[in-house]
Amino acid sequence: MGAGRTASEREEHTPVLAAEALAGLALEAGGYYVDATFGRGGHSALILQALGREGRLLALDRDPQAIAAGRRRFADEVRLTLVHASFADLGTLVPAHAERRACRGVLFDLGVSSPQLDDPRRGFSFRTSGPLDMRMDPTHGEPVSAWLARASVDEIRQVITSFGEERFARRVAQAIVARRRERPLASTGELAQLVAGAVRSREPGKHPATRTFQALRMFINDELGQLERGLRGALEVLAPGGRLVVITFHSLEDRVVKRFMQRESHIDPAFAKLPVLPVRARPRLKLIGRKTRPAEAELARNPRARSALLRVAERLA
Ligand SMILES: C[S@@+](CC[C@H](N)C(=O)[O-])C[C@H]1O[C@@H](n2cnc3c(N)ncnc32)[C@H](O)[C@@H]1O
Repeated sequence: MGAGRTASEREEHTPVLAAEALAGLALEAGGYYVDATFGRGGHSALILQALGREGRLLALDRDPQAIAAGRRRFADEVRLTLVHASFADLGTLVPAHAERRACRGVLFDLGVSSPQLDDPRRGFSFRTSGPLDMRMDPTHGEPVSAWLARASVDEIRQVITSFGEERFARRVAQAIVARRRERPLASTGELAQLVAGAVRSREPGKHPATRTFQALRMFINDELGQLERGLRGALEVLAPGGRLVVITFHSLEDRVVKRFMQRESHIDPAFAKLPVLPVRARPRLKLIGRKTRPAEAELARNPRARSALLRVAERLA
């Protein structure tokens, strides 16, 4: 993926489902919005274009490189506040920055950005070898190599099964533990090769290490846990009528979003027959439209949009 791309291309990220995400946010020119996953600012730039002078955008990313690149790109943009933080803390970050303005929309564009994937030094890539790190925020936690150096076969197997749905998880886990007895696993190239040797079947067009890398990345970044907290935070900060727009890239993420939106948009059957619903039984979200996938034209332009799925909901009073 990284090979053959110029340095400036490696710094860019093509926003996925951009028109659909903007439509989902139903932008008001003077509104206050949150881009929970700034990346390289593809969606943020489009939101800012649609906002007027009074509009404001708070953009978060847990990757300090994303924030640094954003500060360079948007140095003169007074309507944008960029914060190095996790969206898991949305519930406190928005009140701290919004200065009592009503939040009209929150966008999540989950997963990793192209610059993260393409820079081998970040340790996400199985195509170009680099240090086995995989943290979106290298200032917190530990690289995945440190965890792989001490976890048991069973712990590794469980992570690769639950987050990667890899049939050969046990073989992969055993191979990792056998290798580390000889020397520590330090590079993504080494891990990719080891996994390729342990995974028996080949999925067309897919590197045999895809599932294992996805699983380890999700685990070391606690992606699903952060997502749960981020969605709850968004619900707390959205004003009535405000929009929640989420783009996911695989079924585990989408399941969390789908269940959250369903749970928050339906009436508990235990209360359904009451003439007046108690406040805590009232749905807090209304689903807007159906899930959306990228059109053929976008897929032809941007193969990384392949598995993207967008869901929209509106905050109820
Ligand atoms: C797919 S990219 C977003 C791309 C962006 N929409 C654009 O158009 O440039 C996902 C970004 O979300 C960030 N991210 C992932 N999990 C996060 C979290 N829990 N909190 C904040 N940012 C997160 C990643 O670091 C990455 O930069």
